[in-house]
Amino acid sequence: MNSYQGKTFNVVTYGCQMNVHESEKIRGVLSSLGMQEIEDIESADVVVFNTCCIREGAEDRAYNNVMALRPIKEKNPSKIIILCGCMPQQPKGKYKLKERLPFVDIIIGTHNVNQLDQYLLKYAMTKEHIYDIIEKPIGSLDNNNCVRDDKINAYVNIIYGCNKFCTYCIVPYVRGREKSRTPQDIYREVKDLVQNQGYKYITLLGQNVNSYGKDLKEKMSFSELLTYLCQIEGDFKIKFMTSHPMDLGDDLIKVMKQESKVAKALHLPVQSGSSHILEKMNRHYDIKHYMSIIKKLKRAIPNISLSTDIIVGFPGESEKDFNLTLKLLKKVKYDQVFAFMYSKRTGTPAATFDNQIDEKEKNIRLNKLLRLQKLIQKDQIKKYFNKTYDCLIRHINGIAVGITDGGKDIYIPNYKYVNQNYFAKVKVEDIRNHKLSGVIK
Ligand code: SAH
Ligand code: SF4
Ligand code: F3S
Repeated sequence: MNSYQGKTFNVVTYGCQMNVHESEKIRGVLSSLGMQEIEDIESADVVVFNTCCIREGAEDRAYNNVMALRPIKEKNPSKIIILCGCMPQQPKGKYKLKERLPFVDIIIGTHNVNQLDQYLLKYAMTKEHIYDIIEKPIGSLDNNNCVRDDKINAYVNIIYGCNKFCTYCIVPYVRGREKSRTPQDIYREVKDLVQNQGYKYITLLGQNVNSYGKDLKEKMSFSELLTYLCQIEGDFKIKFMTSHPMDLGDDLIKVMKQESKVAKALHLPVQSGSSHILEKMNRHYDIKHYMSIIKKLKRAIPNISLSTDIIVGFPGESEKDFNLTLKLLKKVKYDQVFAFMYSKRTGTPAATFDNQIDEKEKNIRLNKLLRLQKLIQKDQIKKYFNKTYDCLIRHINGIAVGITDGGKDIYIPNYKYVNQNYFAKVKVEDIRNHKLSGVIK
């Protein structure tokens, strides 16, 4: 019995899938202290803000939402507010936040969030604020029971940290160096999720999954890991993110093509269409190389769904560089593009580069790019006609729907379904109002 037994909590999450999954682990830790999750952050006894600092916007959102709790905390001092994740882990992050948010009870970083239960128990005894940011991880959160929201797709970490140091990016500073989990550990977790918990998609997570296994005593490449996980019996598919173009080899393309359990979808961030900008970003590839990967992928897996990340307005990005990015979008025809305005991150090399682009110009470029991508996507719908996709069959509002690996819905109006959540081949036979419909093959 501890003093948190029967109390309520809420976890607010910002940032990438890694953070979303970390919050699932945090919810597991809090539940194992005997606490109950509720939706209302105003009345929850414990509120955890699991933060992101990838761009200024993410930081502002978290900061404003924490500030909004201040009056409630003043009325009810026994409410416990915790801030963790990437924001406090930034160089000098703890001090900045300690001064700006003095009413927050516990501030910890990414490397010690696995000790959250210990910090809470300590806080219950001393009632003294805790500010603790450590430089290197101790232990891991891997073996905790996570509380997953989604019942279809489960996130599974395979590698933590990043060694790439792209010049714009804060991640290597807040997540530390690459550290792979053992294949046996991952296998056990995936097997349990598929065979005991009924998950249909497993999404393997890492800042750069293609670096998987390089740091292990017994080396294993990412494509070997995929082959190993595909041996798990069951009706499920494996997705993964994020891939770095520099480390994506022919072995991965081969496994993606051959293994029916590997989803035919790939998120491959390009960041810019200009090789000159890519060099300044320290991305270690040029557009020629990137395009050669795209070509090979499309040739090997004609139905592949591709998505990417783009940064507009990186320091020194000329009109010509930006136009090369637009040209790239027209060439690749991604199914989805996540585009961001460059955000200066203190402590990263690009923050000190000359020729920073002004916010207005970045905004103009972003909107131009988004408009173009919208047109491309509208046009892309044609490519689905008469093609057959391996889909997860679900019921949505009483209609059977096949969901492709890339997340596209194909309605199956004439299908008299009995059950759902299984994979089947669906052929697209009609496209109307940008909606696909088809039949099960
Ligand atoms: N590890 C992944 C994702 C990193 S963060 C990768 O290498 O692709 C997700 C995306 O945020 C990045 O792909 C990049 O497009 C964007 N991003 C990172 N730092 C940024 C910054 N300072 N300003 C704007 N966008 C940024
Ligand atoms: Fe950031 Fe680059 Fe690492 Fe991705 S690969 S997390 S963009 S440093
Ligand atoms: Fe943000 Fe940290 Fe992810 S900075 S994008 S939450 S690794």
